[in-house]
Amino acid sequence: MKKLLFIFFISISIFSQKKSFEQRADSVLALMTLEEKVGQLVQYSGGWATGVETGKPTEGSDELIRKGKVGSFLNVVSSKLTGKMQKIAAEESRLKIPLIFGLDVIHGYVSTFPVPLAEASSWNPSLVEKSARMQALEASSAGIHWTFNPMVDIARDPRWGRIMEGSGEDPYLGSQMAAARVRGYQGNDLSANNTILACVKHYAGYGGAEGGRDYNTVDLSERNFRDFYLPPYKAGVEAGAGSLMASFNEIGGVPSSASKFLMTQILRNEWKTDAFVVSDWNSIGELIPHGVAKDLKEAAKLGIESTVDMDMEANAYYSHLANLVREGKIDIKLVDAAVRRVLIAKFKLGLFDDPFKYCNEEREQKTIKSKEIVDATKEVALESIVLLKNEKNLLPLDKKLKSIAVVGYLAKSISDPLGGWSALGDSNDVVSIFDGIKNKIGKDVKINYAKGCKITGNDKSGFNEAINVAKLSDVIIAVVGETRNMSGEASSRATLDLPGVQEDLLKELYKIGKPIVVILMNGRPLTIPWLQENIPAIVEAWYPGISAGSVVADILFGDVNPSGKLTVTFPRYVGQIPIYYNHKNTGRPHDPKNHYTSYYMDLDNTPLYPFGFGLSYTTFEYSNLTLDKKEIKKNESLKVFVDVKNTGTREGKEVVQLYIRDLVGSVTRPVKELKDFKKISLKPGETKHVEFTITPDKLKFYDINMDYVLESGDFQVFVGTNSVDVKETSFQIVE
Ligand code: NOJ
Repeated sequence: MKKLLFIFFISISIFSQKKSFEQRADSVLALMTLEEKVGQLVQYSGGWATGVETGKPTEGSDELIRKGKVGSFLNVVSSKLTGKMQKIAAEESRLKIPLIFGLDVIHGYVSTFPVPLAEASSWNPSLVEKSARMQALEASSAGIHWTFNPMVDIARDPRWGRIMEGSGEDPYLGSQMAAARVRGYQGNDLSANNTILACVKHYAGYGGAEGGRDYNTVDLSERNFRDFYLPPYKAGVEAGAGSLMASFNEIGGVPSSASKFLMTQILRNEWKTDAFVVSDWNSIGELIPHGVAKDLKEAAKLGIESTVDMDMEANAYYSHLANLVREGKIDIKLVDAAVRRVLIAKFKLGLFDDPFKYCNEEREQKTIKSKEIVDATKEVALESIVLLKNEKNLLPLDKKLKSIAVVGYLAKSISDPLGGWSALGDSNDVVSIFDGIKNKIGKDVKINYAKGCKITGNDKSGFNEAINVAKLSDVIIAVVGETRNMSGEASSRATLDLPGVQEDLLKELYKIGKPIVVILMNGRPLTIPWLQENIPAIVEAWYPGISAGSVVADILFGDVNPSGKLTVTFPRYVGQIPIYYNHKNTGRPHDPKNHYTSYYMDLDNTPLYPFGFGLSYTTFEYSNLTLDKKEIKKNESLKVFVDVKNTGTREGKEVVQLYIRDLVGSVTRPVKELKDFKKISLKPGETKHVEFTITPDKLKFYDINMDYVLESGDFQVFVGTNSVDVKETSFQIVE
């Protein structure tokens, strides 16, 4: 019997090339025992200490693999180690079903790119796609089949530390970035050995955590959720993402990992995807503290019933799924459907055809930190940097200055520029900002360094040294911000000021009266009104990755003209949060002449820096905003034209942004909505004629009946350099 089974299985592999992935998955499914099926739905983190106390299976991982009790691992890296484990699965287990290895390759495997929020600030989806492509090249060479990225959660609250992992506050831009990353990771051919499966996460609405506190409750109206939060997940799925991750949070009273609305209704019925869903780390187990399951068995039942296919680290499926089926408490069909989706992903990756295709040590050695990948980290970082202020063109600096003071703990840090979630990123590969400046300016310029203070704490004992070096120098470059672990998972902050005494240090340096440039290194918007008021030049570098120093120096000394724009609003004060550009008008929009309107008595309504904002070393002038029609029917498209001229003396890139406003609807609509953008490059004096098309799809929304439609009426069109400084025109949609 065993022999027959083996021959049957081999013949499936050999002769089923022409069969669809679904048919191939079904042929395997037909051979599986209940325990083997459950095994495909179990994922563990590599390298655990087995034993009862840990709550994990007592068998070692090798034994589990051999018995077909585990289908996937995360956090196992290198072609050697993954190869060793794969060998057990593919050669020693009964059905020889390959394992799938996942890892958080969020902005790089070893060669670290800028954090995702920074990458999004490039407003350059093809560059972001290239970053993901490079990450996939590197990770796939080290045995990784699957990344838990892109993280596409819309976030309007910068207190939430995970804002750093996403693309900001806008559904349109977020969708472009989500799709770009999926394309980059998965390439054109998922079965190639240098492409990896993408995982759209955290599905869904995780960024809406109340108070910006991680893992906190999310409660959004279905309209708000569908209009603003859902589009990037959908864009990722439409770009072909092979998987999604269920989020930790509850939404509207139902935790995502038990949500039939999210998983079954939206994902399976509306979007019709066969992408499989993995839980977040123990998120099925957390159905107990959420208060919807009394024990792990019930949690497993809720998870599988809502079509969360794979259980990451909760032991719920491992411990209870088979019994739930045997006891008739869940239908085997649910398990079969989940296994089928997991198997389809493995087929798509080509793992059944060659389980070891990602396990080539020679390729791994050649690929990791290859020139192509390292060069790309720099290319991407250069476009991610946002120039926030540049009074009297203080920047770019003259390379022939006599002396420069570089101040700040972060200036010499080689670990912080990596940012959070940097996988195997190595601080030894990082060019610090100090070194970047030193390499750029050569020996004739004296650099005086002082730390000044740490990032946190009240210690001002280093201030004097910083003041002294500043006095000795022509210009002060102060690098301030947050340490890399101050954003990311479980890193929410209640205040968004520069941490510790860094702002006090800047105030002391400012008193000296020398030109001063602030470089910000952080993973979220900060509240820095004093800096904006007083510091002449401010550069938002985010966490730029391994090329940090060379990139910042290129920008500071003008070898590269900055072109990044914010994808998230910077508040003036924490009390303004949530603050985002695509808000509603309200019945009483703020009118300074009318007390009874919507404003704070003690705070401005406006942000410190609006969405889409970012300066350049050159200037751009917008003119001739026109439309090809002033009136269209519901099924027609409209063209928008604008001329953009480089009116400065340097070549530069500009992000031309198109917004609309639907003035009267069956439900209220935002005061502005980004609908398109183009990044163009202009030589000094050059004018480019930019054209956009507004298709009917771009004007649709969920109407009063929650139908996704386009309504006739009046629309405004805005085109400009950010969400505030715009030219305006209008059109009408007629019945
Ligand atoms: C928890 C995080 O929320 C998620 O983003 C990540 O992919 C998993 N852990 C796995 O590391």
